[in-house]
Amino acid sequence: MKTDQELATAITIESNGQTQLITGQPPELDWIGTGRSAFVFRIQGTDRVIKKFFPSHRHLAVLEGAIYEQLSSFSTYAKQYAYGADYLVIEYIEGQTLFDCLVNGTLIPRDVIRAVDQALADARSVGLNPSDIHLRNIMLTKDGTRIIDVARFRQTEPCSQWDDLKRGYDYFYCKSYFPKKLPEAFLNTVADIYKRRMFESHRNTG
Ligand SMILES: Nc1ncnc2c1ncn2[C@@H]1O[C@H](COP(=O)(O)OP(=O)(O)O)[C@@H](O)[C@H]1O
Ligand SMILES: [Mg+2]
Repeated sequence: MKTDQELATAITIESNGQTQLITGQPPELDWIGTGRSAFVFRIQGTDRVIKKFFPSHRHLAVLEGAIYEQLSSFSTYAKQYAYGADYLVIEYIEGQTLFDCLVNGTLIPRDVIRAVDQALADARSVGLNPSDIHLRNIMLTKDGTRIIDVARFRQTEPCSQWDDLKRGYDYFYCKSYFPKKLPEAFLNTVADIYKRRMFESHRNTG
C-alpha cells in the first residue's frame, strides 16, 4: 500500500497557459474538487484528501500547512494530517460547499453564519487575519459548518468578502421572496464581477 506522501508525489500537474491539467493520478485517488490554486483528491476508502497545489502555487503548501497547525484546536477547521512541499493531507469533509447549497437549493441556516463568525474570531485569537472566506471555502455537513481553505489567513490586506456575504444573507437570502436555488452560471457571473471590483478597488487604494 502506498503512503500518503507517495500518492501525493505521484500526482502530476502541467499548466497550459492559464489552464491546469492533471497528467498523472494514482488509481487510489478520486478527484473531488478544484480551487484557484490546487486540485483535491480523496484517498479511496479513507477519510483523507490530498490537496495538491498547481506548480505555480506550490509555495502555498507549507504556508497553508503551518496555518492549519495554528488552527488545530478549533474544530470548525478541517483537521490536517500532514503536509509537504506541494501538498496537504487533510480530513475529507462530507457535505456541500455553500456554493453547492445555492445551486442545489439546500437551505443555508443562520447557524452557519454564527459558526463562521466564531471560527474567524478563533483564527484572529491566534494572530491570523482570515481572508478569502467565500462560498466555495465553507461546507455545510450533517453535523454543522466546516471551513476548508485557510491558505490566505496570513494575508495582511483587509478582506471584506465574509462581511459582504453576511450582508447578502441578511438583505437578500433571508427574505421569503428571495429564491433559495440559483443557476450556477448566474452565481459564477456574480462572483467574477465581485472579484474584478475587489481587484480594482485594491489597485486604486494600493
Ligand atoms: N477536505 C475537503 N473535503 C471535501 N472537499 C474538499 C476538501 N477540501 C477541498 N474540497 C473541495 O475542493 C475545492 C477546492 O479546494 P480548496 O482547498 O478551496 O482549494 P483552493 O485553495 O485552490 O481554493 C473546494 O471548493 C471543495 O469543493
Ligand atoms: Mg478555495
